[in-house]
Amino acid sequence: MANLSWPSAEEQARVREIASAMTGKNENDVKVVVSPYRICPLGAHIDHQGGTVLAMTINRGILLGFIPSNDSQSHLRSGQFDGEVKFSVDEAQQPKTTRMINLENGNNVHEEANWGDYAKGAVFALQKSGKQVTKGITGFICGSEGLDSSGLSSSAAVGIAYLLALEYANTLTLTPVENIELDRIIENEYLGLRNGILDQSAILLSNYGCLTSMNCKTKDYTLVPHPGINKNEKHENGEAFKILLAFSGLKHALTSTNGYNDRVAECQEAARVLLQATGSGDLEPLLCNVDRETYEAHKGKLKPSLAKRAEHFFSENARVTEGLKAWASGDLREFGTLMSASAQSSIQNYECGSEPLKDLCEALWQAPGVYGARFSGAGFRGCCVGLVEAGQAATAARLVELEYRRRQPELAAGLRPGSSVVLLCNPGQSAHLI
Ligand code: GLA
Repeated sequence: MANLSWPSAEEQARVREIASAMTGKNENDVKVVVSPYRICPLGAHIDHQGGTVLAMTINRGILLGFIPSNDSQSHLRSGQFDGEVKFSVDEAQQPKTTRMINLENGNNVHEEANWGDYAKGAVFALQKSGKQVTKGITGFICGSEGLDSSGLSSSAAVGIAYLLALEYANTLTLTPVENIELDRIIENEYLGLRNGILDQSAILLSNYGCLTSMNCKTKDYTLVPHPGINKNEKHENGEAFKILLAFSGLKHALTSTNGYNDRVAECQEAARVLLQATGSGDLEPLLCNVDRETYEAHKGKLKPSLAKRAEHFFSENARVTEGLKAWASGDLREFGTLMSASAQSSIQNYECGSEPLKDLCEALWQAPGVYGARFSGAGFRGCCVGLVEAGQAATAARLVELEYRRRQPELAAGLRPGSSVVLLCNPGQSAHLI
């Protein structure tokens, strides 16, 4: 494994120290799960329709320092959120989707997930798949500063951190592909977000310097190295590019608005109409079950909004195919052009993204050395991601910062005190225990 700058010795020492103080045990007994965040330069919003996505982890993410309990009790603290979470892994966990709260106006809504729910979700997923979980964990979880709720998949990174810790505590050995499915259970069945498997695939499968290409229909994946990154190097210097993250200051959970799930439902409705048009209505209504020729021949049957969602799916799949070729041949210029085209399709066809995120994308597109940029996660909040020529990265970062502060002064001022709009980072590793 390349010797990457994250997590630093200080970051590891901090989580070890806190977890050891919580248990009264020696710091050397504390295990640390390293669960990185991910970017998805191409393949946006097609994972839930069985499309192929391209992703990579970065050298930032979640650390969970923990010690297995002698009994079923779990006791957790967080670096980002107040309070403590205590529960027994013996308790049968109820999905958030079944827990409703009554609002004063008489409406019923799903209860919002709180930070401790991810640990319970991990127990739920393990229980649901028949794994014996009898031991809890005591631990401290903490994300890289300022990056929570940024569209870098902190939710999946947290879920995976708890899965790996609970599996260690219960001497369960699972493959990355099995853990992708368990994290899908946390997100889809426990939290009620109808997302695909992009996030957890990137976090569990990534390899430094490679792009992970995941076919979300067949679950076949490949790791495609970039010729400009030397995997044998023991450090991150000398890379061909930097990953530029630009933060909007907009934060809210994907499960707290219906935007994400509504789009998923629209894609499925488009698939249903297209499948029925060819007498294949018995197939699962996912756009991956419709071939491009069928779409071209029958798209006139779709109402305008559904036609746009389908256009995004088919054009994005094509950009992924082209993008893989560009990546493998080291053509970052072409790869970046496809990323920016993907952002345009997200805006025009998928109709996601908010004004601040569009402003950020524009600031990135104008900056020197930026090969391409798009929304990072779902596009409703969080950050944009750009690939930038390493030699121009600092200048690009400065200009994006200035431009965003000019366009969105209030949101930029609301970012964590003293923190910048822009963060430059590097590719990372897959989730692992140290
Ligand atoms: C979120 C979801 C992913 C994916 C992206 C958009 O990150 O969790 O499953 O759909 O949005 O590409």
